[in-house]
Amino acid sequence: MNILIIGGGGREHAIASKIAENPRVEKIWAAPGNGGMASFCELVPLKATDVEGVVRFCGEHRVDYAVVAQDDPLCLGMVDALAEIGVPAFGPRKNAAEIEGSKVFAKDLMRRYGIPTARYRTFNDYEAACAWVRTDAPCPMVVKADGLALGKGVLICETREEALEALRLMMVDAKFGASGSSVVIEEFLTGPEVSVLSFTDGETIVPMVSSMDHKRALDGDEGLNTGGMGTVAPNPAWTPEVAERAMREIFLPTVAAMNAEGRTFRGCLYFGLMVTADGPKVIEYNCRFGDPETQVVLPLMKSDLLTVMQATTNGTLAQTPVEFDGGAACCVVLASGGYPVKYRSGYPISGIAEAEKTAQVFHAGTRREADGTVVTAGGRVLGVTATAPTLREAIDRAYEAAGKIRFTDVHMRHDIGQRALNVLREGAEGKE
Ligand code: AMP
Ligand code: GLY
Repeated sequence: MNILIIGGGGREHAIASKIAENPRVEKIWAAPGNGGMASFCELVPLKATDVEGVVRFCGEHRVDYAVVAQDDPLCLGMVDALAEIGVPAFGPRKNAAEIEGSKVFAKDLMRRYGIPTARYRTFNDYEAACAWVRTDAPCPMVVKADGLALGKGVLICETREEALEALRLMMVDAKFGASGSSVVIEEFLTGPEVSVLSFTDGETIVPMVSSMDHKRALDGDEGLNTGGMGTVAPNPAWTPEVAERAMREIFLPTVAAMNAEGRTFRGCLYFGLMVTADGPKVIEYNCRFGDPETQVVLPLMKSDLLTVMQATTNGTLAQTPVEFDGGAACCVVLASGGYPVKYRSGYPISGIAEAEKTAQVFHAGTRREADGTVVTAGGRVLGVTATAPTLREAIDRAYEAAGKIRFTDVHMRHDIGQRALNVLREGAEGKE
């Protein structure tokens, strides 16, 4: 089989590596891919959002299956466009990708179908939003731009003044472009956050191993929000009781709700959850694999990824085994100093081969030069993942391997997994 992967981050590298394990796979193209994928994929110089270009490429090559990994091409309808020319693809159609593409749609869906989430109101009128914030809105509150905003359109506001400022940024100054013309304002929830990626064919839904992201740039959850500085799996807050309740109150009802709306979801449905005192609640849905959650989830997957992906497309997930290893994984992201604001690129990277002796190194922002040297080419540069029987060992191994990699201005967090270890410790003490 010939596979085309659309995207070029650490998530796509992890997906490609896993797919490459399947003996039926002859060739993998990546559009646009990155410096790490270049070692086993053929890179296609197309932007991930270039729907026309990808359709043209598929018309000219024998692509048996495409994997659309990134949110924006999914929301642009790449899977629909590929279906029109007879190329099956992993991922939801445009009308189902809306579950991530519009926060207003996602919140209204949850309200209509009774799916637990933070209480909220939506506005497309600036004055009306300000009036509610000044008077009745819960405080603290969270202000969210409706559309895709590269994970940046969410502002947590401690006071009414901060919320008014956030509304001004989004609705008047259009800091997040058109995505801020509508906003969601919701109550601030507390509790441990859990990411659960799931496979679904629109009937059956199978959660993957749970994970925990670390979104802030600096140790101790300080600094700005980023795309994610590291992950661990499984997430210790994800107990069997919580998982069972989430299946009943959130996962199955979401699949049913999307069907009832005529927007059957097939692909990877990502649940960003908060385990509150009232049980699990949805913070956000994504219509795709998470990044860097994928870099810890897929290394723990025992079943064949391509087979499971095809089952989501063909509607045969119920008959397809999906198994995960009982161990743990940790991914430490190596970023360019200054990310997520301003950083420089083009620095040579050394030590990758050394790190790969004990860990997997997923490239995100890298480029392979003509002479074979790999240089930095983005904010998040590499994700170093180690697996082990226990979380403690996985964390130690990931940091040991990450320490072997060098480039100018390298920045990483030093506490990936600490919160998870604390939860495990408290759990153990509670039992004594
Ligand atoms: P999102 O882009 O929706 O994932 O939001 C980014 C981050 O903001 C989440 O990972 C949470 O940590 C936080 N967040 C979003 N919504 C809420 C909420 N209602 N209550 C508390 N924290 C939130
Ligand atoms: N790591 C969060 C996301 O992929 O949205």
